[in-house]
Amino acid sequence: MESVKKVEISTSGKVIESPCGPIIHGLEDVLIKVTSISDIDGRKGILWYRGYRIEDLAKYSNFEETAYLVLYGKLPTKSELSEFSEKLAANRDLPEEVYSIIRVLAENKVHPMLVLESPVSALAGFDPKAGDLSKDALYDQAIRLAAVFPTIIAAHYRFSRGLGIIRPRRDLSHSANFLYMMFGSIPDEVSTRAIDLYLVLHIDHEVPASTFATHVAISTWTDLYSAIVAGIAALKGPLHGGANEAAMKQYLEIGNPSNARPYVEKLLAEGKRLMGVGHRVYKTYDPRARIYKDLVKELSEKKGNMTYYQIAEEVEKVVLEKLAPKSLYPNIDFWSGIAMYLLGIPYEYYTPIFAMSRVVGWSAHAIEYLNEHRLFRPRACYVGPHDVQYVPIDQRK
Ligand code: ACO
Repeated sequence: MESVKKVEISTSGKVIESPCGPIIHGLEDVLIKVTSISDIDGRKGILWYRGYRIEDLAKYSNFEETAYLVLYGKLPTKSELSEFSEKLAANRDLPEEVYSIIRVLAENKVHPMLVLESPVSALAGFDPKAGDLSKDALYDQAIRLAAVFPTIIAAHYRFSRGLGIIRPRRDLSHSANFLYMMFGSIPDEVSTRAIDLYLVLHIDHEVPASTFATHVAISTWTDLYSAIVAGIAALKGPLHGGANEAAMKQYLEIGNPSNARPYVEKLLAEGKRLMGVGHRVYKTYDPRARIYKDLVKELSEKKGNMTYYQIAEEVEKVVLEKLAPKSLYPNIDFWSGIAMYLLGIPYEYYTPIFAMSRVVGWSAHAIEYLNEHRLFRPRACYVGPHDVQYVPIDQRK
């Protein structure tokens, strides 16, 4: 085990000169806190959760165990894991009123990512301890939040299609229960693993925009539910959570492996971006993408549909040839949309499933930040006029 390891962070953040001094545009490379939750080496392509390499967790762990690790900072013992898993399972169902909120919005075709915000904030109203920022209350809320995300997403899927909802089962794993609530049958092993591995790979990623938004909200001593809503709102944007859907649409447009090279070459010649490629931090192959690629291959074989895996492999060849010299490599979204597609999950649920995993990281960071808490309150450089004279409306030109 390595002790405290400092991953080098470039100080070449984009600086804009202003009359009040330099502005670090987009807070690129600005440190906002110390953390022991996750770390990324973007040059070497390494991701750690609580010091454990993502490759080991992908191989040996599952969602429940990794969620425990991220929240509590250590791997659970057998009894700790079974208590944690039972608590998650016991918290899966929603109050009837919350199902009603989801039904009204889903039947009116409101996007599931928008719908996710409403039941999460409504759930605070059903928790008498919602504003309690003590450790015990926060951990209970973090578990409840992680437990209900699959239920909210599956309920949206079913309501929006005029199907009756399927209540969660306590005897299934987090991932198997999610697919069961979506489609009504107990999923096979590889389908469950496809969801579970996706969740393990997305649980935390240091402080991207959504995790930062959660910090800003919790720094005001708001409740955890509201801080999670801030995270969902930031994740929804296409520059953050939406690329897996865009990458899959690309493969569908390509249609077959022999079209891949001309498609990519034309797109790049037109100066357009290839979805699922590039990353603000990784300047090499995203380690999550490397791991998920193998799963997508296995799932494609099991489902008897290799087309999209083969298209992606052809696209990858061109990326490694033409974009890798600019430090642009496939990211996790390059592969993950294919798995969701093969599982029969419609595009609009890809980002909510990302949130279903990241809610654990958001909660862990919010709890961590409250230890060393300070209100986020940056400044802006005002460049407008001062002391302008107020003119009554009937005298304005
Ligand atoms: N395809 C082609 N060229 C690209 C791509 C791409 N996907 N991404 C970046 N570039 C090029 C840019 O055109 C630019 O070229 P130039 O220097 O010749 O002008 C150069 O690489 C640097 O681009 P920036 O936008 O400055 O890089 P940034 O670090 O801000 O971008 C981002 C990161 C937003 C992820 C970008 O690579 C992108 O748009 N990728 C496609 C969307 C995507 O896959 N997002 C998922 C990220 S992973 C996740 O959120 C789970």
